[in-house]
Amino acid sequence: MSVYRVQGGRPLRGKIPISGAKNSVLPILAATLLTGGRSRLHNCPDLRDVGSAIRILEHLGCRVLREEGDILVDSSMANRWDVPHQLMREMRSSVIFLGPILARFGKAQLSLPGGCDIGQRPIDLHLAALRRLGVKIREQGGDILCEAGDLRGQDVILSFPSVGATENTMLTATACTGVTRIINAAREPEIADLQEFLRKAGAQVQGGGESVIQLSGELPRRDVEHTILPDRIETATYLCAAAACGGEITLTEAEPEHVGTVLQCVSEAGCTVRSGGRTITLWAPERIKGIAPVRTMPYPGFPTDAQAPLMAAACTALGTSVFLETIFENRFRHAAELARMGADIRISGRTAIVNGTQLHGARVRSTDLRGGAALVVAALAAQGESVVEDISHIDRGYEKLTDKLTALGCQIERLKEG
Ligand code: EPZ
Repeated sequence: MSVYRVQGGRPLRGKIPISGAKNSVLPILAATLLTGGRSRLHNCPDLRDVGSAIRILEHLGCRVLREEGDILVDSSMANRWDVPHQLMREMRSSVIFLGPILARFGKAQLSLPGGCDIGQRPIDLHLAALRRLGVKIREQGGDILCEAGDLRGQDVILSFPSVGATENTMLTATACTGVTRIINAAREPEIADLQEFLRKAGAQVQGGGESVIQLSGELPRRDVEHTILPDRIETATYLCAAAACGGEITLTEAEPEHVGTVLQCVSEAGCTVRSGGRTITLWAPERIKGIAPVRTMPYPGFPTDAQAPLMAAACTALGTSVFLETIFENRFRHAAELARMGADIRISGRTAIVNGTQLHGARVRSTDLRGGAALVVAALAAQGESVVEDISHIDRGYEKLTDKLTALGCQIERLKEG
């Protein structure tokens, strides 16, 4: 098992680049199945989840090549429409392959993605939207079997602006005759990035990033080239690390627009932020102030994925902070591990009250991707040595973490244990 060993208590100083967005490259990799040609994606992060998505594409018969930060997918030879259990279990967001497989082959068989550490992660909104477009779906022994039949564009109203359900509906709609409108669509920047890719692939699509997306047109077979947008959650995580430790950091190749709510929180906590173009500079005091109530919401509200890293920073504050997690039902699991480092966190349902303290080093265990990142943030701020276990969770979403933190003056090393 790999662990991070961290010597905490030092301010962060330096400049690092932000990588391409995990939550954009995953749906766009799935979308390469639609083109039936060669897609070259630039600015792809080297992450465990990206490896899982590549394994699914190769299982489906695609040829995939990695060249530095580029991923090349040739989907002309794709010839399978099933994703088996062991591949679905690697990454629960593999459900995003359902739409492209259906649109390409007219049928799909996927093992039901399980829940994960932060919640049940149902896919009822995905299935309801696809049924609305005319997809026949039945569940059989843990698998979902889908027949596309004669898909017709429709108005699809999502009862919740689900990111994955919006993406699956967009991808399936490329095979519908007529116009599909997705109403109450997710507005996350990753949706607009997927729209951009689909446009380059020949789809008529507009409204990505807004609440109503309109899509029509079957995709001609063609080659596509696209650059993945910056990872706003990685950006938020490094901002929270600086807020927790004090110092001055500059993030390049970022998109300040996409982290507005996070910048507002750290500014209210006493940090000074300057951003322009693709760069964000943050100055943090030795200890930040308590943070005004943070309520996680669908974009453009405060992102649920940044709740754990910001809570880690709040654990070091002079004062009290309050978090309301409205998106996932089990997304405070990192609190118990933070408490092992001296954090004072009171959980009641979906509310967490954090009284800032001086954190001390401890051995802690990652509970999930963003919870693990929060433990690293806390370890960087804590006095003394910490060991963070189960860091394979963190590998899913953070590229070159030790390199980037070392460049910011941190003492962190990755070790094999046991
Ligand atoms: C995407 O997950 C992200 N993952 C998540 O990031 C992110 O936390 C989430 O959006 C919210 O922003 C990827 O993009 C790969 P949802 P997704 O569908 O699509 C409920 C990370 O750390 N729901 O918007 O699964 C669901 O249970 C990950 O990078 C249903 O009830 O999120 C949740 O409570 C974690 N039925 C809420 O909606 C459904 O059919 C939001 O889920 C689908 C979702």
